[in-house]
Formats: sequence, structure tokens, C-alpha cells
Amino acid sequence: MFKINPKIKEKIVLALDVDTVEEAKKLITELKDYVGVFKVGLQFYTANGGEVFEFMKEIGAEFFFDVKLMDIPNTVKKASENIIKSGATFYNLHALGGSEMMRQSALGAREMAQKLGVKEPTILAVTVLTSISDEILSEELKINQTALQYVETLAKLAKESGLTGVVASVFEARRIKEVCGADFKVLCPGIRPEWSVKGDQKRLATPAFAVKEGADYLVIGRAVTAAENKLEAMQKIYEEIESVL
Ligand code: C5P
Repeated sequence: MFKINPKIKEKIVLALDVDTVEEAKKLITELKDYVGVFKVGLQFYTANGGEVFEFMKEIGAEFFFDVKLMDIPNTVKKASENIIKSGATFYNLHALGGSEMMRQSALGAREMAQKLGVKEPTILAVTVLTSISDEILSEELKINQTALQYVETLAKLAKESGLTGVVASVFEARRIKEVCGADFKVLCPGIRPEWSVKGDQKRLATPAFAVKEGADYLVIGRAVTAAENKLEAMQKIYEEIESVL
């Protein structure tokens, strides 16, 4: 065990990218004192459903449903209400669904949170997936902007639509803060400390660099979940962030 720093804890989003509920529960139990939010993605959810949500609610752990909604506004609004009912305090949707979809989602989620007397949800827009290159944008999708420009366009739209923030790469974080303001939240995946395995990720950044660029939330996955000693890996990440706070 090591000392909890609440300022760092609130930034840590741990990706529960495991196969079974048992493995997820083990990670949550071991790391909950050091993690602000646990992230449940589509891979885990489509295999295991929401059982782990119940577990997190019981032990008071916050969770982010990384569900990336996109549909007509009314459907997304209803789904957003249900997500809040499930106990998630964070969720996301595609900015490409347009402003009306984002507005309806935020409306549904916030009204439901009020009705249930739970915390106001953090609602994040996915801008351009990091798997989409400038070439794919122009040649396949016929979009006349670079990925960075388009991220900026969509981040502004998300802000105007009343969302809390966006999911983006560390390399876009500074620009988003410049155009959308310091209060507009940025959640960044692709985080790797120098000592960690790189895996299949390409555009990686260290935790310290991410914080310096203005990231509010850091998605930590294999850097901790694939480490032999997970607590020790988390401690090293805490120390690295502490050095730049
Ligand atoms: O293990 P690793 O740190 O690479 O985990 C990254 C997590 O962030 C995974 O859950 C992955 O789906 C997610 N993610 C990502 N890159 C994006 C968006 C989400 O790696 N652009």
C-alpha cells in the first residue's frame, strides 16, 4: 500500500480490459483506493453484461461505461437515461451523431441523475477515433480537414451541445483546452510510462506528458493491468504524476 493522493486518484481511469467478471472484480478490489473511475468497454460488456456494475455499486467504486453511443436523438436520450440508472457516472457518445443527439443525451442523463439524486454525470464525446488517419478522413469519409482540425471542430460542437468534455489523444489535449476552455474536460487513452510494454498502441505518451498537456483523465490499461505487481506499477505512475503537479 502507498499514500493516496486525491488529486491524482481523480485523474486515473482504469480500463477493465479483461475477459471475465472474476478477473475484473479482482482488479477492482486490489486497486479501488487508487482509481478514480473504472472503465468498462464494449468488449467486456458484450461478453459479461452488467454484473460487474452491481459489484462496483456495492463497494462504492465509480465507473465509466465506454459505450460510444450513436443513433437518432430520441433513442440516445432513452439509452442515456438507462446508463444513469445502471449507476455509471461517466459515459460517452460520438460527436458525429450531431448536436441534437448530444443535447438530448445530456438532457436525459442529467434529468435522470436529478431524479435519482445521484451525482451529475460526466458526458464525453468521442471526436475522431485514433484509428482514423488523415487519409481515411479525406479519401473514405470525404472530410476536408486533418484529424487535428476535425477533432477541434467536433470538440467545439460537443461543448456547444452541453457535454462535459471529449475523449482525445494527448497530442490534441492542449489545442482542445485552448479552443474550448480549461473547464472542458479531456480524457486521454494511449498512456504508457517509459518502463511499460508498448503493445499495439502507436501514438503513446507518458503520464507526466499527458498531465502537462492538460489531460484531466488518463486511461490506464495494460501499463497496470498487465504488470506483475499492479500496485507497484500504480505507485510508479502516481510518483511520475506527482513530479509534474
Ligand atoms: O492497455 P491500454 O492502455 O492500451 O488500454 C487502452 C484503453 O483505452 C483500451 O480500453 C482501449 O479500448 C481504449 N482506447 C484506446 N485508444 C483510443 C480510444 C480508446 O486505447 N483512441
